[in-house]
Amino acid sequence: MALKAGLHGENLQLAHIPGNDGWPLIGNTLKFFINTYDVGAQFHDAYGEIYRNRAFFMRFLTFASPEGADFVLRDTEKNFSAKLGWAPFLGNTYPETLQMLDADVHRVHRQAMNVVFQPAAIAGYSLLLNRAVEEKSNWPTNRIVRMYDELKALTLAMNAEALMGLDIERDVAYIMERFITLDKGIAALVPYPVPGLGLWRALRARNEILEHFRPQIAARRERVGNDLFTRLCHAVDENGALLPDDAVLNHLLGILRASAETTTGALSIAMYYLARHLEWQERLRARSFEVGAGPLQPEGLTKLDEHELVFLEAMRIVPVAPMLFRRCVKDCEFKGNRIPAGAQVAVDVGYILRSPLYWTDPMRFDPMRFAEPRMEHKRRRSQWVNFGLGAHFCIGQFFALMVAKIVLHRLLTKYSFELVDPGELKLYTVPATVPKDGLRMRLTAIGRAAESAGGKAA
Ligand code: HEM
Repeated sequence: MALKAGLHGENLQLAHIPGNDGWPLIGNTLKFFINTYDVGAQFHDAYGEIYRNRAFFMRFLTFASPEGADFVLRDTEKNFSAKLGWAPFLGNTYPETLQMLDADVHRVHRQAMNVVFQPAAIAGYSLLLNRAVEEKSNWPTNRIVRMYDELKALTLAMNAEALMGLDIERDVAYIMERFITLDKGIAALVPYPVPGLGLWRALRARNEILEHFRPQIAARRERVGNDLFTRLCHAVDENGALLPDDAVLNHLLGILRASAETTTGALSIAMYYLARHLEWQERLRARSFEVGAGPLQPEGLTKLDEHELVFLEAMRIVPVAPMLFRRCVKDCEFKGNRIPAGAQVAVDVGYILRSPLYWTDPMRFDPMRFAEPRMEHKRRRSQWVNFGLGAHFCIGQFFALMVAKIVLHRLLTKYSFELVDPGELKLYTVPATVPKDGLRMRLTAIGRAAESAGGKAA
């Protein structure tokens, strides 16, 4: 039987799996824009742990259970392609990035890139990150601050320093402006590079970024540096050959994309919950002062374990990467359901991380659920899917956790903070997790008295 293909080449013949195609043309897209997480829960409750859906001009199957996530993401039978699954979103703007590679090519590049995420490299980044945070986290205390925007600017500055090794303000501004335009291309309304429209502007920005960095590769190969770009220029494959220039540039872009929105979103959510739960804000602040205000040394990082619990819990309640995509490349079966080759599939991370089936009182902010003896995230294999699973598991996880600790430590030792509107958090979730009001907060400077009350502050 001939394959009936959709706009993105996906196999549309999925009617044998229960689900709901929504409205003509747009399917259920609007529902995702209104609240991604609620759509997942409604569909799961109506159709179970695997169902058919239609949104973003695609018909696809969603896996909404740890077992489903395991089947798709660990993919021990090699049924799925990440490259084809992400192509409708990243194919134009971020082709050939690590997330968009499959099988052996992915394995070789991932192995080569491991070196830039090893402990020695991470320690080097911590110096650069601390420097950026010290310089860029001086916020006003006499007026309302939109913390999301501030955290975004801070994350960009940290990325410029630690990931790209940029130290000239002019270059930072040039790259960041283009990077924002490039990122907007992911959700371009017209998915063709029509001159003047979003995707065309994004591709032009991409080219300008690549041509800014390309001439620097040779010089960076001649020296050592603490930043990730310089380290990537030295990365070698399993035969000892340097990664080609194009691969270095693509991977740099991929890392920037994967880290920017996720880190800003997750930090905003963590701040929101710390403002809602002042007992946790105080608890972390006291710990930070025990470790010592000022730049966070590598030994200090290991002592901020409760900062990490808060960050994980914030990301669990509001996952910043709520859906992961793949394309099925050969007929297979999951719990009696036939998954035909060509089917687009999604893993609903948002549902899995918030479901009462897997977590106790899941909408309650309760960081200790991750600690001994409860360890709820280990109740079932593959239930902690926040950073993905299998071959494409987030390579930057430790970097992200370090950034979170460095930023929270700085914030907590410098300011106390409260929400201007202390109600429920309202979010845009597509294309990225952004608080609707920009996370309006009031900051109060921490006095010396509070410092010494908290512990051994410098
Ligand atoms: C809160 C922060 C973050 C979250 C929640 C997150 C989440 C994820 C997830 C779920 C994946 C798997 C994607 C898939 O299976 O298709 C992934 C992959 C990836 N992440 Fe992260 N990430 C975060 C931060 C970072 C940071 C800071 C970096 C880099 C500095 C990074 C770099 C990457 C890269 C390069 C991949 C692709 C890995 C591969 O395909 O082999 N991420 N991330």
